[in-house]
Amino acid sequence: TTTNLDFEFEAHTNPVSDADRAVLLANPGFGKVFTDHMVVIKYSVEKGWHDAKVQPRGPIQVDPAMAVLHYAQEIFEGLKAYRTPDGAVTLFRADENARRFRESAERMAMAPLPEELFLQSIRELVKIDEKWIPEIEGGSLYLRPFMFASEVFLGVKPASEYLYMVIASPAGAYFKGGAPSVTLWVSEHYTRAAPGGTGAAKCGGNYAASLVAQKEAIGHGCDQVVFLDAVENRYVEELGGMNVMFVMDDGSIITPPLGGTILPGITRASLLTLAREQGIEVREERYSIDQWKADAQSGKLREAFACGTAAVLTPIGQVRGNGYEFMIGNGGPGIVTEKLRAELGGIQRGTVPDTHGWVERL
Ligand code: COI
Repeated sequence: TTTNLDFEFEAHTNPVSDADRAVLLANPGFGKVFTDHMVVIKYSVEKGWHDAKVQPRGPIQVDPAMAVLHYAQEIFEGLKAYRTPDGAVTLFRADENARRFRESAERMAMAPLPEELFLQSIRELVKIDEKWIPEIEGGSLYLRPFMFASEVFLGVKPASEYLYMVIASPAGAYFKGGAPSVTLWVSEHYTRAAPGGTGAAKCGGNYAASLVAQKEAIGHGCDQVVFLDAVENRYVEELGGMNVMFVMDDGSIITPPLGGTILPGITRASLLTLAREQGIEVREERYSIDQWKADAQSGKLREAFACGTAAVLTPIGQVRGNGYEFMIGNGGPGIVTEKLRAELGGIQRGTVPDTHGWVERL
């Protein structure tokens, strides 16, 4: 199969004006504002990957019998482009997103997109829309590659046609008002993924299944839900849309191990590498909600934070569940969380040396 395609390019004839874009970029929030262009690549069993295009962003035609609408064969990724102080544009570990996208496709019985084509599509879109990277503190251009079954057929089988697309969205803070810390709700009734299921794949269905629990969290005045494991309903897995880490009083970090039910976060993996290099002991170990409660109350737990591409690193201030509530540390950002956040952000934005080869300058 083809791994490199020539992209046909169609520029937007009526792009957002410089003045309007400046207003949008001053306070973009998350996922609400979009750039002028998008990538579209088609796949069919007969032709393989073909018709690669960068074109004006806009609606697409969807047949009511398109398979994705019925059986949810869909996957996505999330990564960011950053602006460095010297004006360059960077991508952070995009090759890891390409690999995970392929693995997600395999789990969902979809046509895997060649990793080089994924990377090429990201570079093409960022190149044409790089003026959409917000210059505000913590600003970035969030890239959302996704792929879905576009075959018009109601049979339950892997589709023979797919559409791969990339859209881009300028982003500020993921949590409202750039919250200094977030409050979590521990879901008692809902689990996210069972062994053998799709928990490690970045498929839309995982997020659809999380929403009722996330809604429950919001109903209790919390920002994110905490999912416990589906077998014993005891061990912390992940949050609605991000991984979770615990900083203990001996300086070590505990985070739930990957094992097929958790999204293998690239932010997660990067932080574990950085922490180990700083001499921090990292333990990928199961951690129960009872232990979490006890450690928070005894002071053995010093800090906890949520981490992901969209969320970056966000301190967890409070945790609530059915009939209990506890605070972590003094409820504010901790030293280890802040240090890791500064180091990761510095690498991504080119102000801290990239000793791992994680950063690509476009
Ligand atoms: C990300 O961190 O990029 C995510 O995909 C989380 C999300 C917004 C669902």
